Amino acid sequence: MNHEQPQSRRHFLAAAAAGGAGLVALNLGRSASALAAGASSQAQGQEEPEITPAEDLMFEHGVIERLLLIYNAAAADLAAGRQMYLQSVASAAQLVRKFAGDYHEKMEEQYVFPRFEKAGKHAELVKVLRTQHDAGRDLTGRIIQLSGDPSHPKFSDLPGLMRSFTAMYFPHISRENSVLFRDLRRVVPPREYDEMGDRFEQIEQERLGHEGYEHALAQVGEIEKQVGINDLAKFTPHA
Ligand SMILES: [Fe+2]
Ligand SMILES: [Fe+2]
Repeated sequence: MNHEQPQSRRHFLAAAAAGGAGLVALNLGRSASALAAGASSQAQGQEEPEITPAEDLMFEHGVIERLLLIYNAAAADLAAGRQMYLQSVASAAQLVRKFAGDYHEKMEEQYVFPRFEKAGKHAELVKVLRTQHDAGRDLTGRIIQLSGDPSHPKFSDLPGLMRSFTAMYFPHISRENSVLFRDLRRVVPPREYDEMGDRFEQIEQERLGHEGYEHALAQVGEIEKQVGINDLAKFTPHA
């Protein structure tokens, strides 16, 4: 999250008792550099809990889910024949492509799915998830095209395409969170699991740039304001 910290998003400072910090670090199986950083923090009475690869991916799902909620809100407007959120849809779709299609899904395809395929675990699920990544990229391409061209003969397809995407992606994320990510530790040895986390952090910086996650989250927040869904309290039903 804050890339000014030595271990970036995967390691953030939290208050902890100095006496237990070293033991916690060993139990988490952290890398030598992280342990060194932890030792320094320990001296200051602080510990840096590690964010695991599964947590990392789930945090990213949070960003994607907020983009899906933007799609839902804007699709209703488009289906009613209005275009007041068209620019917001275009911005959201570009972020879906960059953050989900070209970054998050690529990490799953390169580092998560092969572990299950090799172990022969959740093979059918992984097959469907891979197919849905491809279908999602195809939908995103069409959403980007139509949201940038209201005179396109197929422009009226836009809200349906956005709803198809959200209808697929919410269940997709729910299976990854509740089944695949839960079992990731069972198919990846502990040391490799820790290295996977470091690799994820490196890829985030390569693909999204400095503070890429934070920038994506800020962009989502801006688009939420544009479509009027930024106030969380408004989702609470009144008694
Ligand atoms: Fe996925
Ligand atoms: Fe995912």
